[in-house]
Amino acid sequence: MGKYYTENTGFYKGIAPEKLVAEYGSPLYVYSEDILRQRCREMKSLSDYEKFAVNYSIKANSNLHLLKIVRDEGLYADAMSPGEIHVLELAGFSGEKILFIPNNVSLDEMAYAVERGITVSVDSMSQLALFGKNFPNAKAAIRFNTGYGAGHHEKVITAGKKTKFGINDNSLEDVKEIVSKYKIRVAGINQHIGSLFMEGSAYLKSAELLCSLAYEFPELEFIDLGGGFGITYKKQEGEKPIELAPIRQRLNALINAFVDEYGSRIAFKIEPGRYIAAECGVLLGTVHALKYHAGINYVGTDLGFNVLQRPVMYDAYHEIEVYRGGEITDVGERKVTIVGNICESGDKLVKDRVLPEIEEGDMLGVMDAGAYGYSMASNYNNRLRPAEVLIASDGSHRLIRRRDTMEDLVRGF
Ligand code: LLP
Repeated sequence: MGKYYTENTGFYKGIAPEKLVAEYGSPLYVYSEDILRQRCREMKSLSDYEKFAVNYSIKANSNLHLLKIVRDEGLYADAMSPGEIHVLELAGFSGEKILFIPNNVSLDEMAYAVERGITVSVDSMSQLALFGKNFPNAKAAIRFNTGYGAGHHEKVITAGKKTKFGINDNSLEDVKEIVSKYKIRVAGINQHIGSLFMEGSAYLKSAELLCSLAYEFPELEFIDLGGGFGITYKKQEGEKPIELAPIRQRLNALINAFVDEYGSRIAFKIEPGRYIAAECGVLLGTVHALKYHAGINYVGTDLGFNVLQRPVMYDAYHEIEVYRGGEITDVGERKVTIVGNICESGDKLVKDRVLPEIEEGDMLGVMDAGAYGYSMASNYNNRLRPAEVLIASDGSHRLIRRRDTMEDLVRGF
């Protein structure tokens, strides 16, 4: 294996990144259909249980055209908001293939899902009571916090002590009281412990605990174990990918033992977002300026945090490839800090990293940008969000979302 991800994977299928930028502009999100499909298949193969379903968590990337590919691969989806439900419906997902897992929503937002035949997961006593009062005899799912969290940053750990998510398992008696008062049909229980783990122990431990709660609810149709499966952001340094085989083995054992004991072959779901979408996306940008100041070599680009927020928000690491003359350049080396065009000193994509020497006019590829890239992009500084392009399996490429226009910026006024 060489050092560079796009070479190793044949990501561009022979199309020079410069050509894509010449045609569609910079910055530009580029996606590989092949890699997206491959990741969907890997998640589907995580269990051979006949009622195992993969709900793609579309907060990672909700491009309509990518969603259609994910649906074509046989995945279902989870949604966090009515907007996500809306785009899923446009992509052809029917109500029973969507699970609505919101947090702190209004009655109107719950109703939006219920009217569409979409199961709602509630994750606090007050939301459970609000649901029950307004939709007596309706089906709901309950999100529990089993106490086990995981994730790459404290901002994305969604179970354990320091989180707003989920109902604690020690509140079970209160849950059951509300459930029986409003005759709520508890069709599912779910968890999501956090985002990005590289080995499955916390996930599986929490899954076991969740399954042990299931016996309190005799009419379950499903148990949803959540997402969080990690990807390697440091491939050039040889970071090892998550090993799915041992997770598969333990998951299968857990599911089979559970359904035997529970006495009903209910469905099991998982909710991966990042694993599906991260590695199929590369963000391309252009170097416009170089500056040396107070011991730091700044590389000035159009890749501000309006385009990719993760480095600023979580100190997240994304590998960089440098392109010149239609290919990856590997000449020389220099420690650089790559910055964007946003009016804040914190607008740093890469801090103090040794990279090949970069020149004005070079293009940069930011790896693993398919998840939480465009979906967290903004119009800060009245910048236009970038276009998105798909490199299809047949080697053709096409625009799958146009760049924002000036008109988009003022549409709401
Ligand atoms: N299910 C629920 C209820 C979630 O809240 C999330 C992610 C997922 C599934 C999918 O998790 P994944 O498989 O993608 O780890 N913006 C952050 C990640 C935030 C994740 C939020 N919830 C980042 O860029 O790292």
